[in-house]
Amino acid sequence: MTLIFAHRGAAGTYPENTMAAFLEAERAGADGIELDVQLTKDGEIVVIHDETVDRTTDGSGWVHGMTYRELRKLNAAAKWDGRYGHCPIPHLEEVLAWLGSTRLFVNIELKNSLIAYETLEQKTIALVRRHGLEKRTLLSSFNHNSMRFCRTVAPEIETALLYMEPLYDPWTYVRAMKADGVHPYHRTVTAAFVADAQRRGLAVRPFTINKTEVMKTMFAYGVDAIFTDHPRRAKEWKEKTP
Ligand code: G3P
Ligand code: CA
Repeated sequence: MTLIFAHRGAAGTYPENTMAAFLEAERAGADGIELDVQLTKDGEIVVIHDETVDRTTDGSGWVHGMTYRELRKLNAAAKWDGRYGHCPIPHLEEVLAWLGSTRLFVNIELKNSLIAYETLEQKTIALVRRHGLEKRTLLSSFNHNSMRFCRTVAPEIETALLYMEPLYDPWTYVRAMKADGVHPYHRTVTAAFVADAQRRGLAVRPFTINKTEVMKTMFAYGVDAIFTDHPRRAKEWKEKTP
């Protein structure tokens, strides 16, 4: 059965990576949420996609150049014409504390490709463990070295490799990275690829799928999960797909 992960929360209809978007994901009946994490200047884990705050907030500058206190003053709903009022950038702690009261899975994407964020892995893993969410968490990153490191530090938490372009000899590579699955750009995914992965005990969760036609194709392939900005739409089409 294909699970539905609300990408950056229900980012199609709510400000991405905010509590409002995560709450909507739960209301929509998603199975899980996906979110992105970076570190502030004073080492706090914040939930934000870009390395800068410019695109999604009313502020400007690097996430790693601002303290948590400074970041909290910004409005992550600023680009939504006042529809959602003031939504602060969440701390990962806040999201995990709420998640504990739900049945949702969480995919924490470590945004550590452009900036190394030296302690991001250890801090994220410590928080997941503190909330007892090891079995409901998937760690992923485009930085595969980071995923290999997470596997060493936290063998009990699932890891997945994110990528845009098809991998050469993927199964040898994924095994070498000791990952549990792949999160590929959906255009690289075929029915044969999914079947092959699953035969090897590896999960396939393509991103980011918003078009109905692509949703239907992925459900038919039997992928393990999809990431979508529109969990309500995905749920509706999943129920209609035999
Ligand atoms: O994890 C899937 C997807 O979120 C990766 O791309 O840029 O939306 O973080 P991006
Ligand atoms: Ca992401």
